[in-house]
Amino acid sequence: MRTQVAIVGAGPAGLLLAHLLRLRGIESVVLERQSRDHIERRIRAGVLEQGTVDLLDEVGLADRLHRERLVHSGLELLFDGTGHRIPLTDLTGRELTIYAQHELVKDLVAAHLAAGGPLLFEAPASAIDPATATVRFQHDGRTRELTADLVAGCDGFHGVGRTAVPADAVTAYDHEYPFSWLGILAEAPPSSDELIYSCHDRGFALHSMRTPRITRLYLQVAPDERLDDWPDERIWTELRARLARDDGFELADGPILDKGITALRSHVVEPMRYDKLFLAGDSAHIVPATGAKGLNLAVADVCVLASAIDEWYRTGRSDGLDGYSDTCLRRVWRVQHFSWWMTTMLHLLPDGDPFARRVQLAQLRYLVSSTAAATSFAENYVGLPLPKGA
Ligand code: FAD
Ligand code: DHB
Repeated sequence: MRTQVAIVGAGPAGLLLAHLLRLRGIESVVLERQSRDHIERRIRAGVLEQGTVDLLDEVGLADRLHRERLVHSGLELLFDGTGHRIPLTDLTGRELTIYAQHELVKDLVAAHLAAGGPLLFEAPASAIDPATATVRFQHDGRTRELTADLVAGCDGFHGVGRTAVPADAVTAYDHEYPFSWLGILAEAPPSSDELIYSCHDRGFALHSMRTPRITRLYLQVAPDERLDDWPDERIWTELRARLARDDGFELADGPILDKGITALRSHVVEPMRYDKLFLAGDSAHIVPATGAKGLNLAVADVCVLASAIDEWYRTGRSDGLDGYSDTCLRRVWRVQHFSWWMTTMLHLLPDGDPFARRVQLAQLRYLVSSTAAATSFAENYVGLPLPKGA
């Protein structure tokens, strides 16, 4: 098989890249390891920055999103039993969208297939040659090859994209956090109109949502925690304790539809390009979930990449492709810092260091009492503008 751009991975990064290229008249083939059903059900992110939504609008992918999303103009920070609202939209003029990642993936898959694909499911890539832009993959029980002008490694943290780059050609920066998140999706109406980030002596908790009938909730747990040790009643008891407050708030509960544990980590590979291989999204960087940034970063990467590829085909100039990694990494490190900072401010450290706890509370009190501090937080949380030329 031959195409212009081989895209490995049909997550938000790969699917959106295929769409942006198609709009510019550039052909691609997307290879996805999992089945369509699997990727359309996988519960992941839910918070979209306005920049992400504006881009989806511009490229005709946001019709269902506008019908079904929830729009938020603030969030709450809960500590010492009191909730403090940060009015994100008043401070920045920008709003947040709540729309499940797997719903966005459904929209992207539908758009891609309606336009004629090609998108191969159950087609895991096993090797990428960055020099020849060739991808070896399995499909229908056979080993096949896809050759292209360029390859986009959009295959997430556990894909083959990163491993195709020789170890001496990249530097990987890693930071592990001493906790994980236990996340549930529950058939229960949200108990608040906005997200609640709680910094509690028992550990961090987050109240989020998907629809007026579905709540998404997270608990900080130990990194080696096992789901088997968390029967539903224990989860609800812990959530009630960590989201408790002095104003009569009651957490609605209901059947748990999905449960999972995700480690928090920071990871960046530099550069994000090697020869004809370009890494985008989680294959190049992971941020801890606290800032709700991973999906939005993946979108920013492919915006830059699509423009650079377009310029290269139209003019033969490779400035955009040559600058791809540096352009993306500037945003990646800004977001990496913000996500690390927010994580550090809100989670209970395992040794319960009382000094660290007081520093956290001092930071939180400052954030909710200083307009300057709240504005800086809000500007990062709602998302900085997408890079120029995207
Ligand atoms: P992925 O979504 O991981 O897609 C990669 C695709 O490649 C997958 O479909 C995979 O099956 C496929 N693949 C892997 N290997 C191969 C192979 N060898 N061959 C072919 N295909 C392959 N981000 C936010 O912005 N906001 C949030 O609120 C948020 N909350 C989160 C909550 C949780 C619990 C988790 C786990 C993540 C959250 N994130 C959030 C992060 C966000 O989900 C990811 O950053 C996002 O999925 C990255 O998209 P991607 O396309 O780069 O990678
Ligand atoms: C959600 C996930 C996050 O990581 C976050 O910071 C806020 C909300 C969510 O899944 O809704």
